[in-house]
Amino acid sequence: KETIYILAIESSCDDTSAAVLQNKKVLSNITATQQIHEEYGGVVPELASRAHQQNIVPVVHQALNKANIDKKLISAIAFTRGPGLMGSLLVGTSFAKSLALGLNVPLIEVNHMQAHILAHFIEGQGDGSPEFPFLAMTISGGHTQIVLVKDYFDMEILGETLDDAVGEAFDKSAKILGLPYPGGPLIDKYAKNGNPKAFPFPKPKVEGLNFSFSGLKTSILYFIQRETAKNPDFIEENLADICASIQSTIVGILMDKLKKAVKQTGIKRIAIGGGVSANSEIRNSLKAGERKWGWKTYIPKFEYCTDNAAMIGIVGYLKYEQNAFTDQAVSAKARYVL
Ligand code: KG4
Ligand code: ZN
Repeated sequence: KETIYILAIESSCDDTSAAVLQNKKVLSNITATQQIHEEYGGVVPELASRAHQQNIVPVVHQALNKANIDKKLISAIAFTRGPGLMGSLLVGTSFAKSLALGLNVPLIEVNHMQAHILAHFIEGQGDGSPEFPFLAMTISGGHTQIVLVKDYFDMEILGETLDDAVGEAFDKSAKILGLPYPGGPLIDKYAKNGNPKAFPFPKPKVEGLNFSFSGLKTSILYFIQRETAKNPDFIEENLADICASIQSTIVGILMDKLKKAVKQTGIKRIAIGGGVSANSEIRNSLKAGERKWGWKTYIPKFEYCTDNAAMIGIVGYLKYEQNAFTDQAVSAKARYVL
């Protein structure tokens, strides 16, 4: 069988990433994260687009160098067409198009949300790749979805957030506590020494498998305002308990919906992805699900959870096998359904 080399490019949000894959194996996966957004407490689209323009050439060069293959071996260029920030997507899309023209190779468009899910098919994952059908939960700063995956390119969204993404819920809660952006990992860290039952926060009532996190954020804000009015040192004195309580509420919401999805579909294979997959309580809860309810759970390596080009590359490979190429007339698509 022919060996396929895919050069992949991802630029949908604030990470510029390039990867080279040899079939399903990652030869290189280079990501430039943008520090500039830290001082604004969130991603500023215009700054993201400009940083992509600066980063894209060096990142692609590094990916090619690290893969240590001749450019002439590249079989196709895969790129993120959407969904994401328009200005950011345009940088990767135009770059991919010109490179494909220059190297005279086909172009393959990739849906970023499909890529988060298909990252599980990259070779060498600790948990292996899930068999179809399986449930995928993508949880990050930009996404919260539960998807029924029937085949590589046959997916159905069962539920998604109606407002904030779960990573935003972590980050906005952290901001209320005065923690720097992104605060999700810090909540996880402080929660380790806290009592998750110290401060009960209400879970939202949302129909079906959809999510809502904006109400939780508001109730945390009011709670903190009320308590600090009584005791200005409240946060400092109770940081671990507050973080543990917030985290267990958020993870509880995710687990409730997963249990519901399993019940509804009868499928017990669960694959997660996105930056929030790094959360230790989510990982522990999934492992507990394996013991308690016979689930089989799959968590990709962390570098394939956060936004990265390797996941774009694996989709590129799978589409290459199906001859699913994209015309040069393609343009970026900010809203791009699964
Ligand atoms: O996938 P990602 O790197 O970027 C996108 O949003 O696409 O996800 C970043 C999100 C941030 O909201 C960050 O706070 C959250 O993932 N995150 C965590 C943890 N590590 C990253 N949230 C909770 N616990 C963690 N350990
Ligand atoms: Zn993403």
